[in-house]
Amino acid sequence: MNLDSQTVMYGVFGDPVSHSKSPLMQNAAFRAAGINAAYAAFRVSPENLAAAVAGIRALGFGGVNVTIPHKVAVMDHLDDIDEDARRIGAVNTVVNRNGRLFGCNTDGIGYVRSLKEETGFAAQGRRVLVLGAGGAARGVAFALSREAPELVVIANRTEEKASLLAESVNRAGTGAHCRAVRLADLASLGERFDLIVNTTSIGMHPNVDEMPVDEDLLDRLVNESATVSDLIYNPPETRLLARAKARGATVHGGLGMFVWQGAVAFEHWTGVPAPVQVMREAVERELERQQKETN
Ligand code: ATR
Repeated sequence: MNLDSQTVMYGVFGDPVSHSKSPLMQNAAFRAAGINAAYAAFRVSPENLAAAVAGIRALGFGGVNVTIPHKVAVMDHLDDIDEDARRIGAVNTVVNRNGRLFGCNTDGIGYVRSLKEETGFAAQGRRVLVLGAGGAARGVAFALSREAPELVVIANRTEEKASLLAESVNRAGTGAHCRAVRLADLASLGERFDLIVNTTSIGMHPNVDEMPVDEDLLDRLVNESATVSDLIYNPPETRLLARAKARGATVHGGLGMFVWQGAVAFEHWTGVPAPVQVMREAVERELERQQKETN
């Protein structure tokens, strides 16, 4: 698709942002869907965030993604914010609706959609363990709690953050029962889970030998036919996933969540179904290319 005077602009605001895979992925999606739009990465410092958001309005951008460090601060500059994004406390997608800027959060929904598509896991009536209580965990915990699980346990190194997240999930009234535990006390909990999801950075490149829970504990935490999920996508199979797979669990890597958060954003912007397979292939190709370059 050639850029011309009808092209609608999109982008991602972040700092740093030069390694973002979103431009490749979203441009592949626009091309595949035959939409005259273009998506670029914009390095925006915190002091320039307000001006950058004003630029969305002034230049008539269709919307943007927002990433580190702006996911919380951007909320002050928008006209409307989706209720779940408000509860999560972060926005990763802005939609320009005829000059009104609407903010939402597609991370958690993207995670749940990717989990369903790739593993068939349905959280209804199941027991779920979320490792971590940071920004990513908040999105995942809210989205999972909307799927009517029997129990959601949030385990975090800093117990207070886990408690705050569990309380806000319980207050949201999804009907799911959410509890908090200190990561170090997980062993004494004596519970088994149908889904374990790692939202911490433990095990991410280059610390590929690390695990958020050790192997023995993992064995004691998972049910028969459990699903173990990791939001990390570099490496594609973390040590946590490799161990889970070896003991017969279904595993789910982090690339799907990245692709689906982008797919849900694309659908908000364009109103048409996202070409998810094209988006996934674009990211996979780029990751393979980078891998070859570093070897
Ligand atoms: P993100 O937006 O990716 O979730 P974050 O908000 O910084 O990033 O959250 C990181 C999460 O990983 C937190 O739950 C953090 O635990 P604390 O709340 O105790 O800081 C967890 N985390 C990161 N490194 C960790 C480590 N080495 N051991 C245990 N937990 C870790």
